[in-house]
Amino acid sequence: MPLPTAPAGRLAAAAALIGGVPASLFLLLLAAGWADAAPALLALCATIAASLLLARLWLGSLRRLLDAIRRAEAGEATEPGTPGPNLAPSVEEIAEAARRLARSVNARAELVMQLRRADEAIIERLPDPLVVLDGRGAALRANAAARALFGSAPGGTGDLAALLRHPALAEALDGALADGAAREVDIALPVPVPRDLKLHAIPMEPPLADGGRLVLVLSDRTRERAVERTRADFVANASHELRTPLASLIGFIETLRGPARDDPEAQQRFLGIMAEQSERMRRLIDDLLGLSRVEITEHQPPTGRVDLGALAAAEAEAMAPILAARRVRLETQLAPDTLAAPADAEQLAQVLRNLLENAVRYGREGGEVGLSVSQAEPGGRWPARPGVLLRVTDDGPGIAKHHIPRLTERFYRVDRGRARNAGGTGLGLAIVKHVVNRHRGQLVIESEEGAGARFTVWLPADPAAGSALRG
Ligand SMILES: Nc1ncnc2c1ncn2[C@@H]1O[C@H](COP(=O)(O)OP(=O)(O)OP(=O)(O)O)[C@@H](O)[C@H]1O
Ligand SMILES: [Mg+2]
Repeated sequence: MPLPTAPAGRLAAAAALIGGVPASLFLLLLAAGWADAAPALLALCATIAASLLLARLWLGSLRRLLDAIRRAEAGEATEPGTPGPNLAPSVEEIAEAARRLARSVNARAELVMQLRRADEAIIERLPDPLVVLDGRGAALRANAAARALFGSAPGGTGDLAALLRHPALAEALDGALADGAAREVDIALPVPVPRDLKLHAIPMEPPLADGGRLVLVLSDRTRERAVERTRADFVANASHELRTPLASLIGFIETLRGPARDDPEAQQRFLGIMAEQSERMRRLIDDLLGLSRVEITEHQPPTGRVDLGALAAAEAEAMAPILAARRVRLETQLAPDTLAAPADAEQLAQVLRNLLENAVRYGREGGEVGLSVSQAEPGGRWPARPGVLLRVTDDGPGIAKHHIPRLTERFYRVDRGRARNAGGTGLGLAIVKHVVNRHRGQLVIESEEGAGARFTVWLPADPAAGSALRG
C-alpha cells in the first residue's frame, strides 16, 4: 500500500494504525449481532475520535522533533523548540539531545578552524622563508620571510618563480613527491643578485588543508658563503699584494743596518721610500677591508635616501688637493633634487671618490675632469624605472677596449707599473661595482684610446619622490 503524502492522508493513516484493531472488533460484534447496535456504534465512534486525536498529537510531536533536528543540522540549535502537547515526553528529550549534539559538533568545527588559523599564523611568522607547493610544484602561498626574500606576492611571482624552475630543485621536488621522503638541495642563483640557498623539500601526507603537497623551507646562506669566500680571497690577495712592499721594507732595513749604517743621507732617502711603502700597505689593507664589507652586505639592499647632487658637490670640494697636485680643472653639472633611493650615502660617497680619483690620476695632467648628476631620461637604454645618473669623464689617454670588461675585477690594473706609481691597488673599481650592485644600479664604462674615459652609474630613484618632483 503506498503511503499517503497529504497531511490529511497521513493523519488518517496514523489514526487507522492506532484505532484500526478495536474499531474492526466493534464492527465485527455489530455485524454478528453479538452486541446491541447503540452501545457498539457509540464505542466505535469514541474509538475513531480517540484515534484521530492521538494521531494528531503523535504527528505534531514528530514534526517538532524533525524541526529540532533540522535546526540543529543548520547550526541554529541554541534555542529549545517551542513547547507543545507531547504524546511521548521522550520526543522533547530526543530533540534536546539533537541540539546538544549539534552544539558539540559546532564547537569542534570552531576548534578545527582555530587550529588551522594558528597553523597559518605560525607558518606566516616563522623567521625562515617557507613556501607551500601543490602537487605540480606550483607555489600556493609563501610566508612573510619568503616574500621578503623574493620580494614577491604570495602567488609566487618574480624570483620565486625563477627559483622553482631551477632544474636541481625541480628534480628534488619530483623525487620528494614520488617517494614521500624529504630532500635537501643547495642552489646558487646568479641573478638578479647572486644568492646561495639551502632548500628542504618536505612532502605532506596527507596534504595540507589548502591542498599543499610540499613544504619548501629555505635558508639564505648568501651571507655565510660571502663571508667564507671573502675571507679566503682576502687571505690570498692580501698576502700576494703585501709581499712586494714588505720585501722592499725588509731589504731597506737590512741596508740601513749594513751598508748604509754610517750614511745619513742614504738613510733619509731610504726612510722616505720605506714610509711610502708602509703607506701603500696601509692603503691596501684599508681597501681590502672596505671591499670585504661591501661584498658581505651586497645582497641586502640599502635603506636610506641620498641627495646625489649634494653628495657630489661635497666630494668635489674634498678633491681640491689632488686636483691641484695634477693641475686638473673640475667641471661640475649637478642637478638639484636628484634623490637616489634606496641608497647608502657613505657607500655612494666612496663611489664618487674612487671615480674622481681615477679620472684625476689616470686622466691628462693639466686636463679637465667632468662630474655630472642628473635625472635619468625615461626610455633610452637605461631601465624604465625612475633613476638618477652620475657621470665622471676625463680627457686622458683612455682605456683600450679589451681592458674595459676586466676593470672591475679586484687588483686589475691596465698598466701595472703606472698604476702602482700612481699609488693604485686595483681595488677602487671593484668597490664601485659592488656598491652599484648592492643598490641594484648599473655601471657603464666607455672609452677610446686617446679620447678619455667616461664612467656612468645609474641608480634607482624613489618612484614616489620622482613623481612628486615632476608634479
Ligand atoms: N679614468 C681612467 N682612465 C684610464 N684608466 C683608468 C681610469 N680609471 C681606471 N683606469 C684603469 O683601471 C685600473 C683599475 O682602477 P681601480 O680604480 O680599480 O684601481 P686603481 O686606481 O689602480 O687602485 P685604487 O683605486 O684601489 O687605488 C687602473 O689601474 C687604471 O689602469
Ligand atoms: Mg682607483
